[in-house]
Amino acid sequence: MKVCVIGAGYVGATTAACLAELGHNVCCIDIDEEKVDKINAGSPPIHEDCLKELLQKHVGKRLRATTDYDTIADSDVCFICVGTPSGPNGEIDLSLIKAASKSVGITLKNSENYHVIAVKSTVVPETTQNVIIPIIEEHSQKKAGADFGIVMNPEFLREGNAIHDFMHPDRVVIGELDERSGEIVAQLYKDLNAPMIRIDLKTAEMIKYASNAFLATKISFSNEIGNMCKMLGIDVYDVMRAVGLDQRISPHFLQAGVGFGGSCFPKDVKALIHKAEMLGYQPKVLKSVMDVNEEQPERMICLLERRAGNISGKKIAVLGLAFKNDTDDIRESRAIPAIRMLLEKGGNVSTYDPLANENMRAIFPDVEYCHSAKDALKDADACLVMTEWEEFKKLGDEFNVMKNKIVIDGRKVITPRKDIDYEGLCW
Ligand code: UDX
Repeated sequence: MKVCVIGAGYVGATTAACLAELGHNVCCIDIDEEKVDKINAGSPPIHEDCLKELLQKHVGKRLRATTDYDTIADSDVCFICVGTPSGPNGEIDLSLIKAASKSVGITLKNSENYHVIAVKSTVVPETTQNVIIPIIEEHSQKKAGADFGIVMNPEFLREGNAIHDFMHPDRVVIGELDERSGEIVAQLYKDLNAPMIRIDLKTAEMIKYASNAFLATKISFSNEIGNMCKMLGIDVYDVMRAVGLDQRISPHFLQAGVGFGGSCFPKDVKALIHKAEMLGYQPKVLKSVMDVNEEQPERMICLLERRAGNISGKKIAVLGLAFKNDTDDIRESRAIPAIRMLLEKGGNVSTYDPLANENMRAIFPDVEYCHSAKDALKDADACLVMTEWEEFKKLGDEFNVMKNKIVIDGRKVITPRKDIDYEGLCW
């Protein structure tokens, strides 16, 4: 099938490359010429495992990128994969979705063919029906369900594992306006070995939010139990290892620590809270999930102050800046509030991250960025560990260069030793 993908971010670029891998002819559309040029050169516009290999395999054959929206006219299915960032009150900002819908509408106006529009961007329930369809209909002068098809097809891709998650999904969810639209998109995925859920548009939208909110809830729940464990001298990892063996719970997403970040969990939970409030409902669980998450970095600073005293004038090493390991993405990273608090308290911050130093420099230009953990630790009065990088698990003698070997671990990655003053956040 001929497919267009609007947006070359991590969802769009992954979707384009994986649909090419599934045998479809794919064109990725983005207004950013630099991203388009990169894709056409076989170079990933984002850091994503295996993306380079797929681009190099398919670019020039089944995959290309362009800035030209008219390409949509030549496609059977057009995926909308643009961002839906958080607005000031937690609601999602629909400006990119609206712009993409308008461009799609304008192109459909002059096209004779039947097209299906597939919304992959994360949008709160009712957005496809109440916002996207009316814009496309207005600009195309055509009727959804009759002249063109529409589905809402959420993604469940983890950054860093997005290619793997796309090719090996736990399920494919297709929210469809009508059977014809859903059937065409189902055909795109027919070679994936996964259950397919065919459902209505707003249910598909809610499935995405409920999934992410539930995973975020598991993390905040583990963190809350962990905070109590800390007071009781219990290691929450021992607790959750046993809890997770219950098949009704599962062992995943029970790793307690400094909390969740990234482009999805914080934004999606906030957007769901906002939607609930718009409906006149107070979502108590979801609000607590966010509250616990906001407090975890503060708890790290409290532990630090208890061990190291007044932070003013002290050198604090922050190990890990990315919101999780194996990515350079710092969006909503728990390191951001931690560094902000350290600076507010007059601390001198030295940092190290294997991939994310440069991205963090844009937020904190005056912090010291080091090329290794050892460099960041040199002469430090204390150290905070914020990201679960594999290489931090091997740290040992590097701590010897610290002035005071106080280590506050927010991810349970450091092996405690007799000669370091080690403190875990929830254990
Ligand atoms: C997440 C979802 O997993 C994915 O399905 C969705 O489509 C997008 O959002 P991602 O943001 O890439 O993916 O990261 P994920 O691996 O889920 O981790 C999110 C955050 O939770 C990270 O900050 C991570 O450190 C934290 N986390 C994860 C925990 O604190 N404990 C855990 O047990 C698991």
